[in-house]
Amino acid sequence: MSLSAAPVAFITGITGQDGSYLADFLLEKGYVVHGVVRRTSSLDRSRLGHLYTDPEIHNRRLFLHYADLDDPTTLRRILFKTAPDEVYHLAGQSHVGLSFEIAESTCDLTAMGTLRLLEMIRDLPKPPRLFHASSSELFGKPTVAPQTEATPWQPVSPYGAAKAFATRIVTIYRDAYRLHACNGILFNHESPRRGENFVTRKVCRGAAAIKLGLQDKLTLGNLDALRDWGYAPDTVRGMWLTLQQPEADDYVFATGQLHSVRDLAAQAFAAVGLDWEAHVEVNAAFLRPTEAANLVGDPTKARTRLGWTPSRTFEEMIAEMTRAEYDALSKSK
Ligand code: NAP
Ligand code: GDD
Repeated sequence: MSLSAAPVAFITGITGQDGSYLADFLLEKGYVVHGVVRRTSSLDRSRLGHLYTDPEIHNRRLFLHYADLDDPTTLRRILFKTAPDEVYHLAGQSHVGLSFEIAESTCDLTAMGTLRLLEMIRDLPKPPRLFHASSSELFGKPTVAPQTEATPWQPVSPYGAAKAFATRIVTIYRDAYRLHACNGILFNHESPRRGENFVTRKVCRGAAAIKLGLQDKLTLGNLDALRDWGYAPDTVRGMWLTLQQPEADDYVFATGQLHSVRDLAAQAFAAVGLDWEAHVEVNAAFLRPTEAANLVGDPTKARTRLGWTPSRTFEEMIAEMTRAEYDALSKSK
């Protein structure tokens, strides 16, 4: 495909776990990809390192632009200049626990940031299709399980409340202005590229570090918490499938399987031949003021309409993540 005929994607949050896998996926499919990066004091964008260093890709098919979600004039200018066919809106403060500590900025970026982006898209001469990364945190403590696209929302965190606003405003703009705007209601999804302060990565890294003698104990919060943990590369495939449909719609992406933090610890420590109970301790500092519960998704709509299915089991994914941590820590030892 010649570059001028290639579809053009625009990703907010390209440096994150999902943004980096989505960039890999879209480049593989022949897209030209534009990503938004924030100016920070460090140039370390390790999740994109393999693309950055490839001269066939960086600045030829992958372009990074400085902007911030709270800098609409810059974002607007880049959108006009790049004229994307598809926008994937993934940027935001994504840590639920931290959203209690930095509530205002979390809500501003996630809720108002999405509204501002919709306003920009609405003004473009040819409005692109939009995918918004919504969350199972919408549901809070649902009374029905598993949750579907029709399950009522009762968020219990500032993060969840902000995602609820963002999700609703996407459907309002879809109906009011006929934008091809879609929500993916994403349940937890993990990978070796997961941020280090999310529980799966923290546990896998802790197990590997203890095995290598680099750490004695792993300190966690609520061991009884249950989550529907999927695999991030599967989720980004779902994002792309969502935008390829003729009608804009919302889809749940989930595995339908629940595991506890205890199961997670048992799995990760077993992967390095250790007994988790000998190494894990609990500290109330990692408990949250209120906590979502009973979050397990029903992906029937995504399966039947998009042909989407998960490619990994929880056990395979945790084994892969623990192996990746073990290999990385062994090299740095
Ligand atoms: P992540 O790894 O934390 O990545 C977040 C991305 O947002 C990073 O690229 C980050 O940039 C960027 N960002 C944060 N604040 C920004 C700002 N003010 N301006 C511009 N960019 C900003 O999150 P993820 O796991 O990839 O998740 C992607 C999206 O899906 C998020 O919106 C998250 O809330 C949502 N989601 C995730 C899950 C999950 O299980 N992963 C489930 C449901 C929904 P820096 O690299 O500069 O920090
Ligand atoms: N982070 C963390 N650290 N969580 C812990 C710990 C710990 O030491 N100990 C227990 N947990 C529990 C949390 O209380 C929560 O119940 C569960 O492990 C998962 O926590 P996280 O990995 O931080 O993920 P999350 O479920 O709060 O949020 C993620 O999934 C959401 C979708 O439901 C994030 O990716 C959100 O951005 C996403 O929307």
